[in-house]
Amino acid sequence: MLNDPNQANELTRRPFLKRVLALLLGTIAFLPPLAAGVSAFLHPLRRGAGAGTLLRVTTLAALPEDGTPRRFPVMASRRNAWTRSPHEPLGAVFLRRTGPETAEALHAVCPHAGCQVVFASETRDFQCPCHKSSFDLAGRISQANSPSPRDMDTLELEIRDREIWIRFQNFRSGSVRKIPV
Ligand code: FES
Repeated sequence: MLNDPNQANELTRRPFLKRVLALLLGTIAFLPPLAAGVSAFLHPLRRGAGAGTLLRVTTLAALPEDGTPRRFPVMASRRNAWTRSPHEPLGAVFLRRTGPETAEALHAVCPHAGCQVVFASETRDFQCPCHKSSFDLAGRISQANSPSPRDMDTLELEIRDREIWIRFQNFRSGSVRKIPV
């Protein structure tokens, strides 16, 4: 039996404060995964078709028969919680025929620091305007002291009924290894 009312008050308040503190800590621990989930749900780039999905790019007939590469935008549907945008650009690829019924795809981004590579028709190679990397028709580094740490990034390609589909994917720039991001 406690005669001091202040002491009694203190003893009843302690468990209550402990419960409030536990609730507070639990809420804080729950916030990061909740935020990540909400962000993934709402962010248009993280929903709908995108990285790793096979996307139709063009037809085989659209590629020059002499193997000259052509640049194509890669489009995909994107969706967020409220809207669906049917055609939004994800990036770009170079496609070229490697035979009458075959083709290959190269990512249009330079592996060095992420600039857009261009195809130079006079020299028939790929060149990056930012730090002068150059690549041959197959996307291989074609100079001795290339700033680029690796060849251009190839992308998985499928031909279905003479339509070209690619599995679009971005890769980390500045790395010797081709690391998906
Ligand atoms: S970004 Fe292409 S050479 Fe540097």
